[in-house]
Amino acid sequence: MARTKQKRLLKVKELPNVFSSLDPDVKDAIWNYLKSTDACTLELGCGHGDYSVELAQIFPDRNFIGVDVKGARIFNGALKAIERDLRNAAFLIAKAEKLRDIFKQKSVEEIFIPFPDPHFRRANQNKRLISSSFLDMYKWLLTEDGQIHFKTDNQELFEYALKTISDFGCKIIFSSENLYKSEEAKFPSNVITLFEKYYLKEGRRIKYVCFKF
Ligand SMILES: C[S@@+](CC[C@H](N)C(=O)[O-])C[C@H]1O[C@@H](n2cnc3c(N)ncnc32)[C@H](O)[C@@H]1O
Repeated sequence: MARTKQKRLLKVKELPNVFSSLDPDVKDAIWNYLKSTDACTLELGCGHGDYSVELAQIFPDRNFIGVDVKGARIFNGALKAIERDLRNAAFLIAKAEKLRDIFKQKSVEEIFIPFPDPHFRRANQNKRLISSSFLDMYKWLLTEDGQIHFKTDNQELFEYALKTISDFGCKIIFSSENLYKSEEAKFPSNVITLFEKYYLKEGRRIKYVCFKF
């Protein structure tokens, strides 16, 4: 492992707003840190946690939790949240597959899935954060009318997402194959993530779907 990554991995665990699914008291620890309301919004595969940090600043009365399996990736976002004194933003080092063990049923108001790994191999499709087993879990986690926001630059993954969403019987609220060219698109909570910046620089089209169960 590169030295910077290793350093970040060690340091990230010392930050007061970072928790791990491996901590035995993770559930209590997160809610002791966050503001009193016990509802939250999740950003899955958050990387630098751009959505969690920016939305926590815009919506001070709501809680935002960035989840990523890689602790070193979380470091920058967690530090930014501390520097901005955002007590309504926290980060969780965990596999998204484990969310049912950590959050209560119907306790999640919204889920953001920005630029998840595409998992191109057919055998790995169930690892996609938009596969039907994940949708099953999101349905369990989300409050009534809770929305999911999914963004990708990858056409194959987007088509897979639309099919899975439709097979699951979800209701699409808005979808676009070229988000920043969609005249009718309104983004009360759009954030451009680190990966998105790279993709936009390369001239790739950003695809987005917002849906609910
Ligand atoms: C392509 S990166 C995108 C990062 C960020 N969302 C962005 O847009 O800049 C995908 C991220 O998903 C994380 N990830 C992949 N599988 C995951 C899983 N099962 N649970 C949690 N995080 C996962 C990876 O560690 C990585 O940080």
